[in-house]
Amino acid sequence: MPEPQSFEIFQSVEIFHSWDLYDNIVRNNWMMHRQMASVIQKVALEITGTQSTTPKLRVLDLGCGDGAMARNGLKDCPVEKYVGVDLSQEALRNLAACQGLGSNVQVLHGDIATSIEELPIEAFDLVLASYSLHHFESAQKKSILNQIRRLLSPNGVFLWIDIARLDREDRSGFIARIEQDIQSRWIPMPSEHRHDAIEHIRNYDFPEQESWMIDTWDSNSRNHRSSGNPIEYRDAFYIALRLAAG
Ligand SMILES: C[S@@+](CC[C@H](N)C(=O)[O-])C[C@H]1O[C@@H](n2cnc3c(N)ncnc32)[C@H](O)[C@@H]1O
Repeated sequence: MPEPQSFEIFQSVEIFHSWDLYDNIVRNNWMMHRQMASVIQKVALEITGTQSTTPKLRVLDLGCGDGAMARNGLKDCPVEKYVGVDLSQEALRNLAACQGLGSNVQVLHGDIATSIEELPIEAFDLVLASYSLHHFESAQKKSILNQIRRLLSPNGVFLWIDIARLDREDRSGFIARIEQDIQSRWIPMPSEHRHDAIEHIRNYDFPEQESWMIDTWDSNSRNHRSSGNPIEYRDAFYIALRLAAG
């Protein structure tokens, strides 16, 4: 069977038209949202801790959804500006209707790949992409990572939260593993919803290996800086990488 093409990107939001389904995943912590929110909080406080003047955080959230992940992660942080980008109008409407991301909230309805090209250089201290970049194939991810570097302030951080393949694992190996995990662990979810989630991953998800994610980021560093060990969270399926600007 031919590999699905990521130009079908607009359909990649299909499963999230039902935010009830995704809410269920988040509420049950099946995709480690609680752990990831703690990572966001830790990194955000580290960034503001290094600021000499009044701490303030300018945040860009790529594939923000309804903003729930960012709201949980940033709840005790001095957010000066929050910009969320997403293809789903419904998700952005939900985001705009909620408090908790500061008083300067902007939403951009559009594709991450094109929307970020319009944003100004060094405009953000924290760029967050949680469970959204795996919708792009490798070459597109590379150019998005380049753009993210351009958008980060000199001491800024890109926090990349995503699904990730194991070393030497190919895409089909990952899909077989996660299918088993979903079928055995996401148990209170109705089986037709589990089936939908698996089909979505099979058709639209292109996870990378952890080494590819780190090496590709480092390969664009202007001063040839290595990220060292940027792993803030890792289990068999999910990863959070703290990647510095520069
Ligand atoms: C799994 S949800 C993640 C939501 C949230 N960031 C979180 O961590 O819970 C993926 C989000 O990415 C959005 N998305 C998928 N492809 C996109 C694209 N090409 N451009 C913008 N948003 C996209 C979907 O609409 C959805 O809201």
